[in-house]
Amino acid sequence: MIDEVSPEELMRLERIYIMPCVKKLVPAVFVEGKGAILKDVYGREYIDAYAGVAVINTGHCHPELVKAVAEQASKLIHSSTLYYTYPPVILAKKLSDIAPMDRGKPKKTFFCNSGGEAVEGAYFLAKKYTGKFEIITLQRSFHGRSLAAMSLTGQVRWKLKAGPSMPGVHFAPSYYCYRCPLNHKEGPPKCDYACAHYLREIFNTQTTGQVAAFIAEPILGNGGAVVAPPEYFKIVKEILDEHDVLFICDEIQTGFGRTGKMFAIEHYGVEPDIVTLAKAIAGGLPMGAFIAKSHIAEALIPGEHFSTFGGNLVSCMAAIANLEILKKENLIENAARVGGFLLKRFREMMDAHKIIGDVRGKGLMIGVELVKDRESKKPAKDEAERVILQALKRGVLVGIGGVEGNVLRVKPPLVITMEQAEKVAEALDGAITAVEKEMFS
Ligand SMILES: Cc1ncc(COP(=O)(O)O)c(C=O)c1O
Repeated sequence: MIDEVSPEELMRLERIYIMPCVKKLVPAVFVEGKGAILKDVYGREYIDAYAGVAVINTGHCHPELVKAVAEQASKLIHSSTLYYTYPPVILAKKLSDIAPMDRGKPKKTFFCNSGGEAVEGAYFLAKKYTGKFEIITLQRSFHGRSLAAMSLTGQVRWKLKAGPSMPGVHFAPSYYCYRCPLNHKEGPPKCDYACAHYLREIFNTQTTGQVAAFIAEPILGNGGAVVAPPEYFKIVKEILDEHDVLFICDEIQTGFGRTGKMFAIEHYGVEPDIVTLAKAIAGGLPMGAFIAKSHIAEALIPGEHFSTFGGNLVSCMAAIANLEILKKENLIENAARVGGFLLKRFREMMDAHKIIGDVRGKGLMIGVELVKDRESKKPAKDEAERVILQALKRGVLVGIGGVEGNVLRVKPPLVITMEQAEKVAEALDGAITAVEKEMFS
């Protein structure tokens, strides 16, 4: 039945039957994937340097993950967390062992279906534990598209017409050094981390003193792969401790090895209280989760939270296989190694390509910010979209992001080889050259 529909017909059917709210990145129809490669309906191969938006960390259709999924699916797909089953408990223990806080002590996990649901649950838990209701989040952050997660998101383009944020949400300046929100001309340490210290001002002037939590991504993902400077989270954590406020670390995009460590907050020497997870957790199967220090998690008593598909047995077995693959194939080390190589290659390209304003990232979470010119830093949004199409022609898929929509997002599966990474760099080089030719001719 599926094979009888041509790609053109498929695109026509999509326009009729699918809500138009998701803009397609490229006009291609994908039917297969293996490792870092995606294959389209015509059999053409592409290096997938977006990994389904930072999801496919262990590569497309890893045979061990596929086997785990098939075995569980043939035994029992769903029964709900109202009953005892093995997969969620075994997975929760494994997550507790790797979680970036309270090392050596058990942590507790709640399983749900998506990142947005994990963020909402984490906020709910913080409110329950502290008995307070306000929350501080970052400008330029992204926490999901459910209504509360949208409220916590610091980007107008993802909130358009959704109405005002929930009451009690406060926005702190982001750690975006390339376009410092506080207008400092020089970055840290010269600016003395003004953005982190500004949190005090928020506590003293915007809140009612009822702040339950501060939520932040350690690297702004959707916001354009903006990396927090080295001391940022240490300063923030000190201020949070002064006010007895929980730190919710959103590792939905950065988790599971993407940045060259299991969790990105490990680069900063700071421990969160609650961590939100999704995306790469189950190798492409739907799953979200939040994990908390045990004494905090105790605040959610029986009956206070539930999700029908949460802890789905097939997703849990996929997540267990996913963790084993990450470890067995040293993929986190590979992310650091190949990511370092790609960062260097993109930085070298700045000599030849004046439209590259900034290159940043950690591990395989890289942003290449395009500008009309380096003096004005005017965002080159249309050009970024054209680069994506040019890269497709050269057999490479990359994403796009940033509040201004002008950042190329390079987030390949962590199984990517050096050879494939070089092809990604060459394709982007060629794609940017083609777009610059159009711009300056
Ligand atoms: C940091 C972060 N938090 C939350 C979300 C929302 O996740 P989901 O789309 O699974 O709801 C995303 C998705 O891009 C994300 O990057």
